[in-house]
Amino acid sequence: MVNIGNLWQYLALQSPLQSMSGDHLNHTHTKMAVTAYALPTLAFAYDALEPHISAQIMELHHGKHHQAYVTNLNKALASHATAAAAHDIAGQIALQQTIKFNGGGHINHSLFWKNLAPAGSDDARPDAAAGLVAAIEKTWESLDGFKRAFSAALLGIQGSGWGWLVRDGDPGGGGGLRIVTTKDQDPVVGGDVPVFAVDMWEHAYYLQYLNGKAAYVENIWNVVNWKTAGERYLGTSKGRVKPETR
Ligand SMILES: [Fe+2]
Repeated sequence: MVNIGNLWQYLALQSPLQSMSGDHLNHTHTKMAVTAYALPTLAFAYDALEPHISAQIMELHHGKHHQAYVTNLNKALASHATAAAAHDIAGQIALQQTIKFNGGGHINHSLFWKNLAPAGSDDARPDAAAGLVAAIEKTWESLDGFKRAFSAALLGIQGSGWGWLVRDGDPGGGGGLRIVTTKDQDPVVGGDVPVFAVDMWEHAYYLQYLNGKAAYVENIWNVVNWKTAGERYLGTSKGRVKPETR
């Protein structure tokens, strides 16, 4: 479902270009600029999601894994700008998978952190998203029915990937809710608006749950940030996270 053209356009539109242009990026009449992305700051401490997600997992997941996606995305975007300035089309094409993987990794994780809230907090209560929950109940008959369907989709992912609740954002599309999954770091692109996502890479749970993937999925419901999900559903918060730039 991922179109590299869409992802590329999305990354380009998400933030103003920073001036990182220099002589080495200039070629004839072309002046290139490269956006440098940065690791977003979490709204909570690494241990705030315990016991459902351990501090060790959060520290590695955010500080190491997500940082690696940001670092590699910035490196690939700089190389792409150099190739573009040199009118090296083959060089640009060669970078597209790297940009898709690391760009997807950056925006997926940026969204995921905002999907999470400490268990027992006001934001982690489904009634913080009354409009969304009503739509969920209309679609899946009950919140529990939705959780069962979503959990089954998560556990059905083979290898690494993500599970998403999305709203149809196409004009005239009806705004219905659907559960979708993506492989690796493929993000949701096109008309679908992500409402929330769950990271099903082993790095998201293995240190704590080992091969107990089902227990991770069961416990993630305790730390879903329903308030943020509800805002995304209503469109009062942008469906896609704006990556932070440095
Ligand atoms: Fe992850």
